[in-house]
Amino acid sequence: MKFFIDTANIEEIKKAVAWGLVDGATTNPSLIAKEGRDFKQVVLEICGLVNGPVSAEVISAEAEQMVVEAKDLAAWHENVIIKAPCTIEGLKAVKKLESLGIKTNVTLVFSANQVLCAAKAGASYISPFVGRLDDAGEDGLKMIEESMRIIKNYGYKSEIIVASIRSPLTVSKAAELGAHVATIPFKIMEQLVKHPLTDVGIK
Ligand code: G3P
Repeated sequence: MKFFIDTANIEEIKKAVAWGLVDGATTNPSLIAKEGRDFKQVVLEICGLVNGPVSAEVISAEAEQMVVEAKDLAAWHENVIIKAPCTIEGLKAVKKLESLGIKTNVTLVFSANQVLCAAKAGASYISPFVGRLDDAGEDGLKMIEESMRIIKNYGYKSEIIVASIRSPLTVSKAAELGAHVATIPFKIMEQLVKHPLTDVGIK
């Protein structure tokens, strides 16, 4: 399973990269806004630290504009991949971008049918939001199970990124289901390694 780090905080990324656990990074406009820094500068710094895909999200609502935005973002650094929402316009943009060789990550995915449509559009990555589904009283991990079955049934090239992770248990459960990637907040990545009995044993 690949681990992406789900943050735009440079210090967190530096630490997690040093642990040898980071295969990529995901940002979104809210995560970048939280840092209060320039979008391009943050993305470029992350690309300099992480040896793998770094998701940067488009904010336009229409496909044509998304493509214009995405071409600009993709030109910043070879590690940049384009995050676009799972809407009709988003999937139109994804199809166009993938045909141009620009990799995409379809985000804000909350149903198995959205996974199917994003896979058909040719997305390199698809991000079902487990935590937000759980928050809404649904079963986020069940959607990961369904997603993996759909991808395998048809041999789609898309990789499933388990997103909106709230607990370490989600990561191991998603790994059991064979999800390709988990994008993990810093605090939870730290928790993955720890166990109180390990500390007791050391003492
Ligand atoms: O990768 C998507 C993630 O950042 C969303 O997480 O906690 O806002 O649902 P959350």
